Amino acid sequence: MRTAVYPGTFDPVTNGHLDIISRGLKLFDRVIVAVLVNRQKNTMFSVRERMDMISEATKNTLPSRIEVTSFNGLLVNYVQECGADAILRGIRAISDFEYEFQMALMNRKLLKQVDTVFMMPDERFSYLSSKLVREVASFGGDVSAFVPGFVEDRLKAKCGGKSHV
Ligand code: PNS
Repeated sequence: MRTAVYPGTFDPVTNGHLDIISRGLKLFDRVIVAVLVNRQKNTMFSVRERMDMISEATKNTLPSRIEVTSFNGLLVNYVQECGADAILRGIRAISDFEYEFQMALMNRKLLKQVDTVFMMPDERFSYLSSKLVREVASFGGDVSAFVPGFVEDRLKAKCGGKSHV
């Protein structure tokens, strides 16, 4: 049974994240989507809201194959707690590489048996980020190609005409 932890902020989950989850499920028996509880970061959605959106978006996946959770503190501690084999991360462009490279090596230094598996999302999502989605939504732009319909509704409700970028 191979398990991967897919960590992130997911503020909110996008079609790019969902693409990585479905690709991850082809490689791993189980994917644990772990939302970072980050008190310093000013997120648009609460941890609960972010987890609910991921659960809703993945509700057709067998519960034995996916789990949506949150974690505090060091990722490697959480990976160990879960007994996971790998960390799953999406990589979109060269600009992601530096940060991902540093994190992967630091995580491996902290927990030597853990490797990070990088997957590339479909090219349609290669320029997509939660930050840009929040920005476009906050100015009333159309984000329907980037997030599931119910996430779009939540973004509209949250923005209410105000900028939350
Ligand atoms: O979606 P994001 O914001 O790119 O995800 C970043 C995340 C959550 C993977 C990263 O910030 C993280 O792992 N934070 C937990 C704290 C930690 O372990 N830091 C050391 C990483 S080398």
